[in-house]
Amino acid sequence: MLLTVLCLMLLATTATSQDSFGDVIANIRHTIKDIKSNCFQTEGVDENELERILMLGKYDSTNHDLKCAVKCLYVNTEIMSSTGEINEANMKTKTGTSNVDIQDAVVANCKGFTDSDLCERTYKISNCTYHTIKSGLTGRE
Ligand SMILES: *[C@@H]1O[C@H](CO)[C@@H](O)[C@H](O)[C@H]1NC(C)=O
Repeated sequence: MLLTVLCLMLLATTATSQDSFGDVIANIRHTIKDIKSNCFQTEGVDENELERILMLGKYDSTNHDLKCAVKCLYVNTEIMSSTGEINEANMKTKTGTSNVDIQDAVVANCKGFTDSDLCERTYKISNCTYHTIKSGLTGRE
Protein backbone atom coordinates (compact mmCIF):
# COMPACT_ATOMS: atom_id res chain seq x y z
CA MET A 1 0.00 0.00 0.00
CA LEU A 2 2.73 2.46 0.99
CA LEU A 3 4.65 1.45 -2.09
CA THR A 4 1.62 2.18 -4.29
CA VAL A 5 1.27 5.64 -2.77
CA LEU A 6 4.96 6.33 -3.28
CA CYS A 7 4.75 5.19 -6.90
CA LEU A 8 1.71 7.38 -7.54
CA MET A 9 3.47 10.36 -6.00
CA LEU A 10 6.48 9.77 -8.17
CA LEU A 11 4.26 9.54 -11.26
CA ALA A 12 2.52 12.77 -10.32
CA THR A 13 5.87 14.50 -9.92
CA THR A 14 7.16 13.40 -13.29
CA ALA A 15 3.84 14.27 -14.95
CA THR A 16 3.95 17.89 -13.80
CA SER A 17 7.59 18.47 -14.61
CA GLN A 18 7.80 16.74 -17.96
CA ASP A 19 8.66 19.86 -19.94
CA SER A 20 12.39 20.01 -20.40
CA PHE A 21 14.05 23.41 -20.66
CA GLY A 22 14.74 22.61 -24.30
CA ASP A 23 11.00 22.13 -24.89
CA VAL A 24 10.35 25.52 -23.30
CA ILE A 25 12.83 27.23 -25.60
CA ALA A 26 11.27 25.45 -28.60
CA ASN A 27 7.83 26.67 -27.51
CA ILE A 28 9.09 30.22 -27.11
CA ARG A 29 10.66 30.06 -30.58
CA HIS A 30 7.28 28.98 -31.93
CA THR A 31 5.51 31.84 -30.12
CA ILE A 32 7.79 34.51 -31.61
CA LYS A 33 8.47 33.00 -35.02
CA ASP A 34 6.21 35.34 -37.02
CA ILE A 35 7.23 38.56 -35.25
CA LYS A 36 10.91 38.02 -34.46
CA SER A 37 12.43 39.22 -37.73
CA ASN A 38 10.25 42.30 -37.85
CA CYS A 39 11.18 43.30 -34.30
CA PHE A 40 14.91 42.79 -34.84
CA GLN A 41 14.92 44.52 -38.24
CA THR A 42 12.97 47.48 -36.89
CA GLU A 43 15.49 47.95 -34.09
CA GLY A 44 18.44 47.21 -36.38
CA VAL A 45 19.68 44.31 -34.24
CA ASP A 46 21.29 41.09 -35.47
CA GLU A 47 19.12 38.08 -34.64
CA ASN A 48 22.23 36.30 -33.34
CA GLU A 49 21.84 38.53 -30.29
CA LEU A 50 18.58 36.72 -29.61
CA GLU A 51 20.31 33.36 -29.99
CA ARG A 52 22.74 34.32 -27.21
CA ILE A 53 19.71 34.82 -25.01
CA LEU A 54 17.77 31.72 -26.05
CA MET A 55 20.67 29.29 -26.20
CA LEU A 56 22.92 30.63 -23.45
CA GLY A 57 20.68 32.75 -21.22
CA LYS A 58 23.13 35.63 -21.58
CA TYR A 59 21.46 38.83 -20.43
CA ASP A 60 24.65 40.88 -20.15
CA SER A 61 24.14 43.15 -23.13
CA THR A 62 24.40 46.92 -22.92
CA ASN A 63 22.88 47.27 -26.40
CA HIS A 64 19.77 49.36 -25.83
CA ASP A 65 18.40 48.46 -29.26
CA LEU A 66 18.50 44.77 -28.31
CA LYS A 67 16.47 45.56 -25.20
CA CYS A 68 13.95 47.40 -27.37
CA ALA A 69 13.76 44.41 -29.74
CA VAL A 70 12.91 42.24 -26.70
CA LYS A 71 10.27 44.80 -25.72
CA CYS A 72 8.86 44.54 -29.25
CA LEU A 73 8.50 40.76 -28.75
CA TYR A 74 6.67 41.32 -25.45
CA VAL A 75 4.31 43.91 -26.94
CA ASN A 76 3.57 41.86 -30.05
CA THR A 77 2.87 38.71 -28.03
CA GLU A 78 0.62 40.88 -25.81
CA ILE A 79 2.43 39.94 -22.63
CA MET A 80 2.90 43.69 -22.17
CA SER A 81 0.98 46.64 -23.57
CA SER A 82 2.84 49.42 -25.35
CA THR A 83 2.48 51.46 -22.16
CA GLY A 84 3.94 48.73 -19.92
CA GLU A 85 0.86 47.01 -18.46
CA ILE A 86 1.47 43.29 -17.93
CA ASN A 87 -1.24 40.86 -19.06
CA GLU A 88 -0.81 38.12 -16.44
CA ALA A 89 -2.78 35.47 -18.36
CA ASN A 90 -0.57 35.94 -21.43
CA MET A 91 2.54 36.13 -19.28
CA LYS A 92 1.67 32.66 -17.95
CA THR A 93 0.58 30.92 -21.14
CA LYS A 94 3.51 32.32 -23.12
CA THR A 95 6.18 31.10 -20.69
CA GLY A 96 6.38 27.99 -22.86
CA THR A 97 5.76 25.67 -19.92
CA SER A 98 2.45 24.15 -18.81
CA ASN A 99 3.75 23.87 -15.24
CA VAL A 100 1.35 26.13 -13.33
CA ASP A 101 3.71 26.57 -10.35
CA ILE A 102 6.38 27.93 -12.66
CA GLN A 103 3.86 30.13 -14.51
CA ASP A 104 2.76 31.60 -11.16
CA ALA A 105 6.39 32.08 -10.08
CA VAL A 106 7.13 34.01 -13.28
CA VAL A 107 4.29 36.45 -12.56
CA ALA A 108 5.20 36.76 -8.88
CA ASN A 109 8.95 37.24 -9.48
CA CYS A 110 9.03 39.14 -12.73
CA LYS A 111 6.08 41.46 -13.29
CA GLY A 112 7.17 44.04 -10.73
CA PHE A 113 10.07 45.82 -12.46
CA THR A 114 9.44 49.56 -12.58
CA ASP A 115 12.13 51.06 -14.84
CA SER A 116 10.56 53.99 -16.65
CA ASP A 117 12.48 52.97 -19.78
CA LEU A 118 10.27 50.15 -21.06
CA CYS A 119 13.13 48.58 -23.03
CA GLU A 120 15.21 48.26 -19.85
CA ARG A 121 12.17 47.02 -17.96
CA THR A 122 11.32 44.35 -20.51
CA TYR A 123 14.90 43.11 -20.68
CA LYS A 124 14.85 42.61 -16.90
CA ILE A 125 11.45 40.90 -17.07
CA SER A 126 12.77 38.59 -19.77
CA ASN A 127 15.94 37.78 -17.81
CA CYS A 128 13.89 37.12 -14.69
CA THR A 129 11.49 34.91 -16.65
CA TYR A 130 14.32 32.92 -18.20
CA HIS A 131 15.96 32.25 -14.83
CA THR A 132 12.68 31.51 -13.05
CA ILE A 133 11.70 28.90 -15.64
CA LYS A 134 15.16 27.38 -15.79
CA SER A 135 15.53 27.06 -12.01
CA GLY A 136 11.94 25.76 -11.77
CA LEU A 137 12.59 23.01 -14.29
CA THR A 138 16.19 22.08 -13.55
CA GLY A 139 16.67 23.21 -9.96
CA ARG A 140 19.48 25.50 -11.01
CA GLU A 141 19.88 28.75 -12.85
C1 LIG B 1 19.40 38.29 -14.47
O1 LIG B 1 18.88 37.46 -13.46
C2 LIG B 1 19.88 36.94 -12.59
C3 LIG B 1 19.20 35.93 -11.66
O2 LIG B 1 18.12 36.48 -11.00
C4 LIG B 1 20.53 38.11 -11.86
O3 LIG B 1 21.54 37.60 -11.01
C5 LIG B 1 21.10 39.09 -12.86
O4 LIG B 1 21.60 40.23 -12.19
C6 LIG B 1 20.06 39.52 -13.87
N1 LIG B 1 20.65 40.33 -14.92
C7 LIG B 1 20.02 41.40 -15.43
C8 LIG B 1 20.71 42.11 -16.53
O5 LIG B 1 18.94 41.81 -15.00
